[in-house]
Amino acid sequence: MANNANNTVLSVNSIQKQFAGVHALNGVSLSLERGRVHCLAGENGSGKSTLFKVISGVEVPDAGTVSLDGHSYKSLTPRTAIKGGIQIIYQDLSLFSNLSVEENIVIAPLIAKGRQRYSPREARVIAEQTAARIGVDLPFSELASEVSIAQRQLTAICRALAQDAQVLIMDEPTTALTKREVDALFVTVRLLRDQGVAVVFVSHKFDEMLHIADEITVLRNGRVVAEGAVADFDHASLSEAMTGQRIDDPQRRQTASASSRIALSVDHIGVEGKLSDVSLTLNHGEILGITGLLGSGRETVAEALFGVHPITSGQISIDGKRRHIRNVPDAIELGIGYVPGDRLNEGLFLDHTIAQNIVSASTAAIPHTFGLVLRHSVEAIAKRMIEAFGIKTPSSSAPVRTLSGGNQQRVVLAKWFVQKPRILILNGPTVGVDIGSKQEIISLLRNLSSDGTSIIIISDDVPELAEVADRIIVMRNGEVAVELCESEICQDRIFDELAA
Ligand SMILES: Nc1ncnc2c1ncn2[C@@H]1O[C@H](COP(=O)(O)OP(=O)(O)OP(=O)(O)O)[C@@H](O)[C@H]1O
Ligand SMILES: [Mg+2]
Repeated sequence: MANNANNTVLSVNSIQKQFAGVHALNGVSLSLERGRVHCLAGENGSGKSTLFKVISGVEVPDAGTVSLDGHSYKSLTPRTAIKGGIQIIYQDLSLFSNLSVEENIVIAPLIAKGRQRYSPREARVIAEQTAARIGVDLPFSELASEVSIAQRQLTAICRALAQDAQVLIMDEPTTALTKREVDALFVTVRLLRDQGVAVVFVSHKFDEMLHIADEITVLRNGRVVAEGAVADFDHASLSEAMTGQRIDDPQRRQTASASSRIALSVDHIGVEGKLSDVSLTLNHGEILGITGLLGSGRETVAEALFGVHPITSGQISIDGKRRHIRNVPDAIELGIGYVPGDRLNEGLFLDHTIAQNIVSASTAAIPHTFGLVLRHSVEAIAKRMIEAFGIKTPSSSAPVRTLSGGNQQRVVLAKWFVQKPRILILNGPTVGVDIGSKQEIISLLRNLSSDGTSIIIISDDVPELAEVADRIIVMRNGEVAVELCESEICQDRIFDELAA
């Protein structure tokens, strides 16, 4: 295995980093080799993103050193990091949505070269060269906001290459991609590796890691607990290293607690240009899964029910009564809750505290006098939820911004659990959540449904849906393609329907 010192482009040594009350990195050492794909694994809050921030000069470590190209530094600045060829792609991709694909690729390198003026000709040459390096066609003149997520990601990769990336770090790049797009991304990753780039990759999906990695390092509570060639790992050893304990294989729930009373009935609804004709029912205490490829309409169904895209045809009844959902307040009034997929933009107030976020949807449900929400009730509720969801934080009054990605997702879920809606719709509830906690969240969802809440889960995580749902609907082209009842649910069948 390549542990050849000459191939090392970057190494960190005994890095320590504390935030108020949290030991995010506790003596981490790691080296990155040219031409290798290195996966970083670890539970939510184990320190992965913090390590990347140290490597890219965004966070200054409390102790330890960073060696880059043979020089040893106490800490890097973003500038030295970029000069040394370190490029990081965050999950939000940090693209300018009002600029074209081409402008996004070239603007940083042109500024670095000291260009005062934007030369369209030079820009096109750079953009074409980088796209050619990874063998892709990109719509250079379109706005970044208009192209698909996969194309935006390629744009971010090209931007990194245009800045001469030697180390390319991707923090959870696959979460928003379909299976096919992940495969395409992996082709790109291998090409880059073969061109000598050191690629660093984070994912919570074991299959992906085992598929793409040359090396794997596992972090737990800010320490390296396992490292080695990919061949040394499998599902069991990865999850054991991450959690410190063995996790049993998921089990389908034995007895469905769903009643046969219909909570929600959707009859031939349509949304102009997005949904043609969808009918479905949801029973009290039932967990209904809805899946489908991107653009199949799976998300639009949720948004129609929550009043984001009001229906333009058909009708919706709740507990047998016809209801009009014209906007989001209508939906909330009717006891419908929605956990969106895009939690960073739609689900959270990042600068508010964890407690404020948790109670933000449900102030009506909390005891108050003269309209003032009682502070201690807010704190009691927040405390209970932090415990129930295993949110990793020293205090309920920490801003949500300081939580790791997976812990932010838990706050979004907790917020709706407090509310106890009659109907809860969740879009990708465990995206970005580590494998152990996935199980916990699934069992929380089951408890909620046993208490009578009717749940719709929209997801492309087929194994998870197959495990948790009482019934599954597969959507295609804005319509219901097939409905699978409990006895028909199996992963292969769902994959077949998705591919059909
Ligand atoms: N700016 C900050 N202020 C306070 N605490 C922070 C800050 N940044 C990170 N932390 C804490 O450091 C720990 C490590 O967080 P980090 O984001 O590195 O985790 P992660 O491994 O990337 O997790 P995830 O898989 O959820 O993305 C967490 O407990 C987090 O709350
Ligand atoms: Mg992270």
